[in-house]
Amino acid sequence: MKRIVGKWLGVTMLVALIGCGGQSQKQFTENDINIIPKPDKVELMAGAFVFNEDTRFVVPEKYAEVTDVLLNKFEAAAGWQLEVVDAAPSKNYVKLVLDPAMGEEAYTLKVTEENVLVTAKGYSGFLYGLESVRQLLPVSIESDTQVTNGDWVIPAVEIKDSPRFKWRGFMMDVSRHFFEKEYVLATIDQLALLKMNTLHLHLVDDQGWRIEIKKYPKLTEVGGFRVDQEDKHWDARRTPELGEEATYGGYYTQEDIKEIVAYATSRGINVVPEIEMPAHVMSAIAAYPELSCFQNPIMVPSGGVWPITEIYCAGKESTFEFLENVLIEVMELFPSPYIHVGGDEATKTNWEICPDCKRRVKEEGLANVEELQSYFIRRMEQFISSKGRTLIGWDEILEGGLAPGATVMSWRGFEGGLKASEEGHDVVMSPTSHSYFDYYQGNQDVEPMAWGGFTPLSKVYEFDPVVEGMSPEQEKHVLGGQANLWSEFVPTEAQSQYMTYPRLAALAESVWSKKENKSWADFSNRVQAMFKRYEVMGINYAKSAFQVTTDVTVDSETGTLSIALKNEFPNSDIRYSLDGSDIDGDSQQYESPIVLDKTTQVKAQVFKDGEPVGAQLEKTINFHKAAGKPVTYLNKYHDSYQGAKDVGMVNVVRGSKNFHDGQWQGWLGDDMELIIDMEEPTEIERVTVGALENQGSGIYFPVEVEVLLSNDAKSFDRAGVLERDYAANTKSELKDFIIDLTKQSARYIKVKAINLGTPPTGGGSWLFIDEIIVE
Ligand code: ACM
Ligand code: ZN
Repeated sequence: MKRIVGKWLGVTMLVALIGCGGQSQKQFTENDINIIPKPDKVELMAGAFVFNEDTRFVVPEKYAEVTDVLLNKFEAAAGWQLEVVDAAPSKNYVKLVLDPAMGEEAYTLKVTEENVLVTAKGYSGFLYGLESVRQLLPVSIESDTQVTNGDWVIPAVEIKDSPRFKWRGFMMDVSRHFFEKEYVLATIDQLALLKMNTLHLHLVDDQGWRIEIKKYPKLTEVGGFRVDQEDKHWDARRTPELGEEATYGGYYTQEDIKEIVAYATSRGINVVPEIEMPAHVMSAIAAYPELSCFQNPIMVPSGGVWPITEIYCAGKESTFEFLENVLIEVMELFPSPYIHVGGDEATKTNWEICPDCKRRVKEEGLANVEELQSYFIRRMEQFISSKGRTLIGWDEILEGGLAPGATVMSWRGFEGGLKASEEGHDVVMSPTSHSYFDYYQGNQDVEPMAWGGFTPLSKVYEFDPVVEGMSPEQEKHVLGGQANLWSEFVPTEAQSQYMTYPRLAALAESVWSKKENKSWADFSNRVQAMFKRYEVMGINYAKSAFQVTTDVTVDSETGTLSIALKNEFPNSDIRYSLDGSDIDGDSQQYESPIVLDKTTQVKAQVFKDGEPVGAQLEKTINFHKAAGKPVTYLNKYHDSYQGAKDVGMVNVVRGSKNFHDGQWQGWLGDDMELIIDMEEPTEIERVTVGALENQGSGIYFPVEVEVLLSNDAKSFDRAGVLERDYAANTKSELKDFIIDLTKQSARYIKVKAINLGTPPTGGGSWLFIDEIIVE
């Protein structure tokens, strides 16, 4: 029979064609190809391949397992048990073809009406080819119940594809909250769908030890459980009493770990275990106090601990003996070429005074406790490399000198990775700025509680592990990139999914696709297709990228202000109202910036397929007397937090709890001092200074706010002052410092806000101010 595809054949004939197998009326366009990450090269051809019950998989014998991913899908969604055979039938088959000349993880995919050919050097290439086939199939292939009238057709295409980086990672913190084995396996499936190849398990931290070690059973019996204070904010949990019942927790048995590793291997994923040291180990010290400098009994903390001073003793030989024994069991379980030893955030005050640590410093001729940490990591590196593995650690392992064979995971920005690569070390980039999935991805007022930073989808998409200015030699040391999901604020699987998807899709493209193949507009379309897939899979993905945000421009000539509405995706259907009325499909459609000249309540929302998506924007734009007036800074805001530049302080738009929202002006250690020119003598009754506090991110309310008035901009009279004492605060909080004046006329208003200076907990102190409202 002649094959006719993509033409209108008439209903009777169509039914007949589908009935006899192998035909479809479906006409594909480029828009139907939504593969993430974007392949190197995709060419759409005429025609399509139709899967049916007789479709066969032709697979070289030792690769049979690789087809599981697709066969399981067909079994669940189509109800077919498709067969794997040795020899190809004349047509209607998927064939895996070996080509030893190809790159390690590369594949080509050629789909015709007759067959589907995946060519690769081996397992991972075959897997990625089949994952691409999966993404070409309709989203209903993800259904775990049988779909009636499934249309299992994929377009004829030729795809040539290979990854940009060889480390494409995701870290799960299973310590701060414990996640069951089944959830880890499900996450592995999601990683494989996106052609990610590394799962980093953060198995040890202060709040829980999560891997069974046969030689030290108390690590999990004691260290795996903490007093349940899950009802309280992470940083508001009290120190548990010794002997209190510890009921929150869990751990993976060695059998669980074997299952996770085997499953990951079948999905092309290497599991990198992280065994933290020398800090983030209070769970181990709770189990075995002799591991610490002073051996004081402690409980596993239920929540945040900062700074972390209760760490392993670097003086006692028994500490190293313990760690080597632990690592021996770990290396037996994990075939990973890399063993992660953490190394971050150790406060070494105990080391300064511990007799054993002091002796070690002296005997080894070390300059200070930084070098003692370096000694610690070097020793572990020697042990790990003696077993044929490579040590990897957070960028703090650079401090005091890095062991020659070590690899660095750069998290405090890209700097650690730059330095390490300069020194000839391999690096994995996982900077907080682009790849911390515990950070907010949308408006904090409507998002579930998260860590303070801001990593929206588009920011993740901008991630490039290679930093501009790197030499070709340095570039070669960049193994790739990784996202990290710390779980302090991630207590459930649903929340873990929410923080992970769709950001993982953006990250996957950043580490797989060639730079020149990346396009935010194109990704926006493809990721929205992925949303439909996530819906079928029952994944609680975040819709934060649909949240409407505002861009405000002030015209200082006319005193008017225009407000642009947007969301992360281009060309969205945004509906809005300016009179407080709720938004529906009949609301005004946004086209261009809206001019406002009075206090206005703006509501806005994105619509997709006629339905509202994402949270609704609700914002009151409060006009005041200083709106759009010139501001002179006597002490300029910090380069990193410029808000809306010089007009920002009086641009009528208030900063939100998201301190990266482009409204806040920041001063690090300094005070704010500025003069607003009202341009003519103006009656002034009240000045309000908005401030943000987020102590976890080093942002503190001012300790004093002062208002001074003048008519000549030279001599100023103090008109009012407010003082406020520092108070510990675990929340992110907005506060208005309101200074009421007995009505006075003035042209110039000087406003000062005094920085806290040195916080009691140490570190720098940011002052964040927006807006100054004059009434
Ligand atoms: C880290 O985020 N402390 C590695
Ligand atoms: Zn010590």
